[in-house]
Amino acid sequence: MSAFDGKISFVTGAGSGIGEAMALKLAAEGSTVVCSDINEQSAQATAARVEELGAKAVVSALDTSREQAVKEALEKTRRDLGRLDVLMNNAGVGSKDWEMTTAINLDGVYYGLIHACPIMAAQGGGSIVNTASVAGLGALMRPVDYHDDRAAVESVSAYVASKHGVVGLTKQFAVAYGKVGVRVNAVCPGYIKTPIIAAIRGREGGEEFLKALHPMGRLGNPEEVAEVAAFLASDKASFVTGVAMPVDGGYSCR
Ligand SMILES: NC(=O)c1ccc[n+]([C@@H]2O[C@H](COP(=O)([O-])OP(=O)(O)OC[C@H]3O[C@@H](n4cnc5c(N)ncnc54)[C@H](O)[C@@H]3O)[C@@H](O)[C@H]2O)c1
Repeated sequence: MSAFDGKISFVTGAGSGIGEAMALKLAAEGSTVVCSDINEQSAQATAARVEELGAKAVVSALDTSREQAVKEALEKTRRDLGRLDVLMNNAGVGSKDWEMTTAINLDGVYYGLIHACPIMAAQGGGSIVNTASVAGLGALMRPVDYHDDRAAVESVSAYVASKHGVVGLTKQFAVAYGKVGVRVNAVCPGYIKTPIIAAIRGREGGEEFLKALHPMGRLGNPEEVAEVAAFLASDKASFVTGVAMPVDGGYSCR
């Protein structure tokens, strides 16, 4: 018996990086997985990999910054598949634009919570894991002095504000839905080898700068985040709710 046998899971941002690893981990543990992404092709590719593992996959083309679309996708999952047991509220961007960053990283996570929690409560329980960041626990360091670069200040501020917001939402929804069996937790990854950090890694000295931020002296892998997220989503974490768990090679303990 695997941890997610017979469960129905919905993963946002499933087409790449951490979301893809989450979808594959849930599938490997027996879950049916709705692979959702704004990029439908990449969601389809992940769904194909889920099916290679012998699990059932459904593709959902979804922009998480559109509330009505999020509501409909989650309700469709419950209607078509009978339940919604797990939501990995994971889609996110590192954009130069304040509006876009907060719309996807913060509003999108809120839409997932506000529309998944009632579905889960009505069926007797469920579990949500939000992908926050070490940027939800403190300020981010950058390899260069950027105080006179307005775009850089805006970009880092928007990301840090959005991820602190995700940690706040995690706690508030955990409190609101605790008595009806819905657990809400967050993972706070350090720097993980996915396309979202390709630009920083590509700069001269960028990779070494990022590695040095982590006491373990390396970057993380998406699978290492998916492993912790799956634990939090599973019944093994049945008395865990409202936590923002670092998965960061020690980044946040300094
Ligand atoms: N990689 C890191 O170092 C790191 C660190 C901390 C937190 N995170 C967070 O992890 C999450 C996943 O990022 P990743 O590193 O896997 O990056 P990624 O770029 O590999 O994957 C992000 C996925 O989200 C999708 N996406 C973007 N906007 C969307 C939208 N509006 N609606 C639906 N899907 C959308 C993209 O198409 C992509 O498939 C993000 O929330 C990110 O902020 C990443």
